[in-house]
Amino acid sequence: MKRTSFTPTFASPIGVYDSGLDAADRAALVATIDELRLIPSGQKRSSVGGWRSEGNFFDVNVDAVRQLADAAIACSLDYLEACGVQFNRSAHTGRLTGWANVNGRGHYNAPHRHNGYDLSGCFYLAQPAATTNSTGVIEFLDQRNLTPQAERFGGPMFSSSFALRPEPGQIVIFPSSLMHWVRPNHTDEDRIVIAWNLDVVERGSG
Ligand SMILES: [Fe+2]
Repeated sequence: MKRTSFTPTFASPIGVYDSGLDAADRAALVATIDELRLIPSGQKRSSVGGWRSEGNFFDVNVDAVRQLADAAIACSLDYLEACGVQFNRSAHTGRLTGWANVNGRGHYNAPHRHNGYDLSGCFYLAQPAATTNSTGVIEFLDQRNLTPQAERFGGPMFSSSFALRPEPGQIVIFPSSLMHWVRPNHTDEDRIVIAWNLDVVERGSG
């Protein structure tokens, strides 16, 4: 027996990256979010409790925000390369729309997709101590309906869900259309995340 080919057809890859942002960058981002929180906000979307910034977070004129934007784009282009997408990386960049989320005790994000974009991502600025298999966990949900295989084989290829508890400083990248939710925070510490949608565009296309 010799395997001729093997293709992970219809995969939903999830990439986890070290952002490279240091403690000072992260403190600057927390300070930026603290300032934005002073502005009254009514946005709800998938958030159940918690706070979400309005407008495009990446429009904030702060060095650490620009560094995060660069990291988000670099991770996204690397993700596409890892997926085997054929494109000229140096000729492309990402157009970002971002927001900050602060989730306290009992807050969570109901299952949702970010339809209409290429890739989505989130940067973990603060994660509460893990007291249960819920706090700080993002869970991705499979829409392929492979229930029999999920029950028999499991693992990342066949399981019906994939749960992840990213560390502070990490970036997670996933296809925007992939269903996901954030499990409830069972602590008094805040989970602080900067999330975004990204479209891959040619450099210089505006
Ligand atoms: Fe989301």
